[in-house]
Amino acid sequence: MDLAVIGAGHVGLVTSACFAQMGHRVIGVDKEHKVTQLREVDLGLYEPGLEEMVRRQQKEGRLIFTSSIGEAVKASQVIFITVGTPSNPDGSADVSSVEEVAQLIARHLEEYRLIVEKSTVPVRTGEWLKRTLRLYNTRGVEFDVASVPEFLREGSAIKDFLHPDRVVLGVESPRAERLLRELFGPLGAPLVVTDIRSAELIKHASNCFLAMKISYINTIASIAEKVGADVDLIARGVGLDHRIGQEFLQAGIGYGGSCFPKDVAAFIRITEELGYDFRLLKEVEEINRGQRLRLVRKVKEALWVLRNKEVAVLGLAFKPNTDDIRDSPSIGVVQLLVAEGARVRATDPVAIKNARQVLGESVRFCQDPYEAAEGAHALVIVTDWDEYKDLDLARLKAVMAIPVIVDGRNVLEPQVVRAAGFEYYGVGR
Ligand code: UDX
Repeated sequence: MDLAVIGAGHVGLVTSACFAQMGHRVIGVDKEHKVTQLREVDLGLYEPGLEEMVRRQQKEGRLIFTSSIGEAVKASQVIFITVGTPSNPDGSADVSSVEEVAQLIARHLEEYRLIVEKSTVPVRTGEWLKRTLRLYNTRGVEFDVASVPEFLREGSAIKDFLHPDRVVLGVESPRAERLLRELFGPLGAPLVVTDIRSAELIKHASNCFLAMKISYINTIASIAEKVGADVDLIARGVGLDHRIGQEFLQAGIGYGGSCFPKDVAAFIRITEELGYDFRLLKEVEEINRGQRLRLVRKVKEALWVLRNKEVAVLGLAFKPNTDDIRDSPSIGVVQLLVAEGARVRATDPVAIKNARQVLGESVRFCQDPYEAAEGAHALVIVTDWDEYKDLDLARLKAVMAIPVIVDGRNVLEPQVVRAAGFEYYGVGR
């Protein structure tokens, strides 16, 4: 099929490359400067396997990039909108890019097109999309709107696209349903066919449930600390119940990224406008914000005085296998430590470049954990990168000023660390 994907960010690029690999002809659309970079396979983001896939699909002629929405609309039967919907200051989603793209699509409509919202958008955006497409489509060309929310996780986005747990098809016509079944059927996953509003709410409800699950286990971790229990053992015992599941029960300094914080805030705002006070989600947000404060308090407990202490921080990305630092709890911890007067030496396998733009010269960036640990009064792990799971403890001890480890993601084994002569502080254990 001939497809257009408008917006070449994380979701858009993964969508374009995967559809091309599935054999479709895909036109990716973004601003001119971004298109130039993409043609040279400079994606502007780190996602395992994506660069290779974009290079190959371009070489094989199934994927092209353009800055002209007109060209893409003319050439494609189905048009995916995957532009960013960042948070407004009040927490609501900024859908101005969606509206701008909808106007441009409408102006270029000459024959039937199916326009699919894939960006994470507030419920009822589908109706606004339809209205905009009708108002600006002066030739009254026939079209359909649909909602196919994405559930990609950064770091495993390609796998999540090609092997989804389910594909939600929010449609309003048999023609739209037929086209989307033809497109997503070959993935072999269950297809959940709904109306558009239900599809939009499935996205909010799923993401916010996962965020709630994380805040729930982080609350259990705080309780476990008070009674001297081990939250990782509790998570295992709870998660083996098939109705609960082991995933997203990892206690730590909380969730970050470009989705959970934004989706939780947006869902609170949307429901407020609908006249419902989503207190449960407000508590999820409150608990999450508190986790990074709780960790800094642990470092303070360990060091008594933070001012002028050298603190090594391992991890800056909001999760492993990405360079994304948007709303990263790790960055939050660094900022809190700096505000307390600590001298932070931070490292991360891939996110230093992005972190430097936010943290500037307020911290010293180091190439690896051992450089960061030199002269440190505490070593704080805040992103659970694999390489931090088997640190050479003897080597760390030899370079640190005093042997203190604060493990914000419970990546190390407490008894092993203590046996190596360290004081160990974890989360809920
Ligand atoms: C999330 C959703 O998982 C995905 O379905 C949606 O499409 C986009 O948002 P993402 O934000 O990329 O994906 O990463 P995810 O793996 O969900 O982690 C989000 C945050 O939760 C990270 O900061 C991670 O460290 C944290 N997390 C995750 C925990 O603290 N504990 C866990 O058990 C799992």
